[in-house]
Amino acid sequence: MSERSYNLISWCAQGHLKPLQIERAEGLYFYDAQGKRYADMSSQLVNLNIGHGNQKVAEAVYAQMQKLPYLAPNLGVDTRSEAARRIVEKAPANMAKVFFVNAGAEANENAIKIARMFTGRTKIFSGYRSYHGASYGAANLTGESRRFASEPGIPGFVKFWNPHVYQDILPGETEAELTKRLLKGLRAQIEAEQPEKIAALFLESIVGSNGILIPPEGYMQGVRALCSEYGIMMVCDEVMTGFGRTGTWFAVEHFAIQPDIMTIAKGSTCGYVPLGGVIVSQEIADFFDENKLWCGLTYSGHPVGCAAVNAVLTIYEEEHLIEASQEQGVYLLEKLKELQEKHAVIGNVRGKGLFCGVEFVKDRQNKTPIAANGKDPDGFMKNLLQGLLQKGFYTYHHDNVLIIAPPFIITKEQIDENVAILDEVLCEMASKEG
Ligand SMILES: Cc1ncc(COP(=O)(O)O)c(C=O)c1O
Repeated sequence: MSERSYNLISWCAQGHLKPLQIERAEGLYFYDAQGKRYADMSSQLVNLNIGHGNQKVAEAVYAQMQKLPYLAPNLGVDTRSEAARRIVEKAPANMAKVFFVNAGAEANENAIKIARMFTGRTKIFSGYRSYHGASYGAANLTGESRRFASEPGIPGFVKFWNPHVYQDILPGETEAELTKRLLKGLRAQIEAEQPEKIAALFLESIVGSNGILIPPEGYMQGVRALCSEYGIMMVCDEVMTGFGRTGTWFAVEHFAIQPDIMTIAKGSTCGYVPLGGVIVSQEIADFFDENKLWCGLTYSGHPVGCAAVNAVLTIYEEEHLIEASQEQGVYLLEKLKELQEKHAVIGNVRGKGLFCGVEFVKDRQNKTPIAANGKDPDGFMKNLLQGLLQKGFYTYHHDNVLIIAPPFIITKEQIDENVAILDEVLCEMASKEG
């Protein structure tokens, strides 16, 4: 019996799937039924930051299961208040409270509602180059093609072009000039949409699934200023970037900005059990002292999820894993830049912390993507992933960008070993073509 006999699997036609059957996993690696080892160079879905099989999390979860596996969200439990306190303490200084949910999409759904309740406005802005989740509201926030199945969209949801520096920058233009140009366009769009009707503007602090897009110099600060000017809630989606992925606790720290709302999930429990959250500013938290919070979930602040949060936060702290993400990230980026010099098919490499993207182009001059809009006409990305997988390097891609985001426990030797595999596969592909 294979995985697809009874399961429907995300984001693909089912008929020709041959999912790998995995038997066990530990640290950086997982192993298939034949004992073959794979380096997890994407931390699964960029969530398994502490690596596979950490027994400290398993023990904390088990202990909570034995002690108090479930309580309704309106009853107090230490594990939950402790998890909320610890998360808020890591967040920017203006952040005050967390509303717990089960995952990233739900975090964004509830952030939409909270922003609407707080402002009394309805419109929602988000970027075309974004992924915010697959449930109805989150899919409507999402700019890329995964929103199409949820369309026609929710009235009042407006998309804007958020930056892709490598592709957007004009010859001779500086990053600061690009930022100025994009912010001018965004301001015009806000003005055209009746700013007094706009409740929130959503942005991934650094775009993840859509290709590791680091905003140009001054962009996030400029968006923050625009939101403040028009009374729009700035919502930073930190579902993928939160909890050290970019080398800081939250990616907003790179831009020294304070959003009004942040959404979290993945790295809060590293996938050991599901949990997400919406972190809100003091001002928003105060508003809900007198106004009813029209949000609720049976599993909001599930004690087992919160036990995982507490265990994972302790691991990040005691093992200095956020610092490791920063340090190993610098090393990984250096190695990827060396590869770029060798392979003309690599147009750009970029990253912050252990959050790197390798962008493949047909020619460097025109930066023509080798795959785009969900299509891979030459099968380049498919062949690349297959070649990597055969040699025990597991990751995924979005269009022409290979995502490289291993767990923070990766060593420099393991980085060398896996960058060498990428080099080898690219050489083999080039020699087949030539
Ligand atoms: C930035 C971002 N937001 C939201 C989500 C949705 O999270 P989930 O799949 O946990 O619903 C994802 C998932 O990849 C994400 O990367």
